[in-house]
Amino acid sequence: MLLTEELSGLVGRAFAAEGYDAALGAVRVSDRPDLAQFQCNGALAAAKAAKANPRAVGEKIAARLKDESMFSEVSLAGPGFINLTLTDDALASRIAALAADHRLGGWTATAPETVVLDYGGPNVAKPLHVGHLRSAIIGECLKRLFRFVGWTVYGDIHLGDWGLPMGQLITELKREQPSLPYFDEAISGPYPDASPVTLEDLERLYPQASAACKADEARAAEARQATAELQAGRPGYRALWKHFISVSRAGIEREYDDLGATFDWWKGEADVDPLIAPMVDKLRAKGVAVEDKGAVVIRVARDDDKKEYPPLILYKSDGGVMYGTTDLATIVDRVESVNPDRMLYVVDGRQRDHFEQVFRASDIAGIYPKDRLEHLWFGTMNGKDGKPFKTRAGGVLKLRDLIDMVEERAAERLKESGFAEGYGDDEAAEVAHRVGLAALKFADLSNPRTSDYIFDIDRFVAFEGKTGPYLHYASVRVRSVLKKAEAADAGAPGPILITEKEERDLALTLLQFGEATKDAVEKRLPHYLCEHAFTLAQAFSKFYAACRMVDEKDDAIRTSRLSLATAAGRQLDVILDVLGMPAPEQM
Ligand code: ARG
Repeated sequence: MLLTEELSGLVGRAFAAEGYDAALGAVRVSDRPDLAQFQCNGALAAAKAAKANPRAVGEKIAARLKDESMFSEVSLAGPGFINLTLTDDALASRIAALAADHRLGGWTATAPETVVLDYGGPNVAKPLHVGHLRSAIIGECLKRLFRFVGWTVYGDIHLGDWGLPMGQLITELKREQPSLPYFDEAISGPYPDASPVTLEDLERLYPQASAACKADEARAAEARQATAELQAGRPGYRALWKHFISVSRAGIEREYDDLGATFDWWKGEADVDPLIAPMVDKLRAKGVAVEDKGAVVIRVARDDDKKEYPPLILYKSDGGVMYGTTDLATIVDRVESVNPDRMLYVVDGRQRDHFEQVFRASDIAGIYPKDRLEHLWFGTMNGKDGKPFKTRAGGVLKLRDLIDMVEERAAERLKESGFAEGYGDDEAAEVAHRVGLAALKFADLSNPRTSDYIFDIDRFVAFEGKTGPYLHYASVRVRSVLKKAEAADAGAPGPILITEKEERDLALTLLQFGEATKDAVEKRLPHYLCEHAFTLAQAFSKFYAACRMVDEKDDAIRTSRLSLATAAGRQLDVILDVLGMPAPEQM
C-alpha cells in the first residue's frame, strides 16, 4: 500500500468517527515541507457541507489523530488544513519494508490489464523521423513501466509496409532494372531467393521515387497503380515486396536495437490484408460501410463535432486500401488474437485526427469500444530553429548517427569531468554508450509527453541538472560508496535509524516512489517517474554530503546509513531500468 493511502485510511477513520465521509481524509504530501510532511484538507469540505467552522472540524479530527503513535506532530494551519508529520520510528519501519521489497516500494496494479502497445511504427524503406524516435523511446518505457506494475503487454512495432511507398519503390526499380523477372507478367514464379536490392539501394531508391512522383503526375499514377496491383496480389510484386521488407527490416531492427527498443510482435500493416475483405463485407451488410463516390467509407462525423471529421475510407475508388483500413483491420486482428483490455498507440500528435477517425469507426462498427482505445500522442523534438529535428546532413534522421553524436559528446563530457580515467578503450566506450543513451532518452522522457522540446545536446549530456548523466552519476556514486564500505569492513547494512534531516528527507523521498509509479501508469506519463528519479538523486546527494558513512564512528548510525544508501541505489537502479537507461557499473 502507498504511504499516502495508509495515511488516508487512518485520517478517513477519524473523519468517519466524527460523522463525516471517510473520503474526506485524503492525505497527500505537504505543499510546505518546511511545516509538515503530509497534509489533509478535508476539514474545509466537511465544514462547508455541515455549515460548521472549518477550524473547529479540523480541531476535532486533529485531536483524534494525536492519539496515533505514528505521528510526531499533528497541527492545524490556516483555515483548517491538518498537517501531519511522522515519527522517525514510523519512517524507519516503512523504509525497512521498502528495502525488503524487490520492487523497492514500486506500485503494484490492483487490477492488472492486458494491453497491446503499438509503438515504433517505422515504414519499410522510408527513412525514420523524430516521430519514430520518440515513439520508440516512450513506447519502450511505457512497456517496461506497465510490466513493472504487473500488466501483460504485447509490444507491436506495426511496420508500415503496405502503402503507396511500396508502389513507388516498385516502379522506381522497374525503371532501373526493367529486365527483373518480377516485372514480367508472363512469369508467375518461382522468383529468385536473393534480394535484387540492398539496404543502400532502398535508401537511394525511395527518396528518388518520392521526388519523381511529386514532380510528375504520370509517375505518381504509375506508383498508385502498382500499389493497387501489389495489394490485389500480383505475384511478381508480392515477391519483390517481400524482399523490400526483409532487407528493410534488418536495418530497422539494428537501429531500434541501438536504442534499446525491442518488440514482441513484428507485425505489419500487410499482415491484416486477408482480414480486410471479410471485414468490409460484414460492415457493408450491417450498413456501417457505405458507398461514396466509388469509394467505400464509414461515416464518423457527429453533430456536435467542433471540427470536421471526414469519413474513414476503407476502399478507394481504385480498390486500394488506406492507412485507416489497415488500422481498423489491425484492431480486428488484435481482438481475435489476444483480445486485450486496451489497445494503446504511441504515435505522433500529428496523427490525432487519424486515430479519432479510426477509433470512432471501430466503435460504430462494433469491433472494439472507443473508450478502450487510447492514442498516447506526443509532441515533437525540435531543432534550435523550432522545426522538427533533423541531423546535420539535413533530411534523413539516421538513428545511428544521432546516437553516435550523443555518445561522442558524452565521451567528451566524461573526460572533462575526469571520469572513466584509466579505463581501457572498450570500457570507456561502454560507459559513453550508456551515458549518451541516457542523455538522449532522459531528455525525451522527462518532458511531459505531449509537449514539444528542443534538441540541445549540451544540456542533455550535462552532469548537472535534470539529466540522464546526473542520474547515472548518482547511481555510480552509491555503488562506489558501498564498495568502499565493504573494503573498509564498515559492517553490513543495519537497522534503519533516522536522526538527521537529510536521512529523513531521503527516507520520505524513497517512500514516494509508489505514488510516482502509480501516477505514471494511470496517466501514461513517464515524466512522473523521471521527476521522482531526479528528486531521489538529489536527496541522496544531500544525504551523502551531510552524513558520514564509511568513517562514521557510531556503529548503529553507520550501518543504518549504509542501509539507506543501499535502498536509494537499488530504487534508482530499478527506475533506470524501467526508463530503459541502465547506469554503467562505474564511471
Ligand atoms: N507507420 C506510421 C507512420 O510512420 C506509424 C504507425 C503507427 N501505428 C499505427 N497503428 N497506425 O506514420
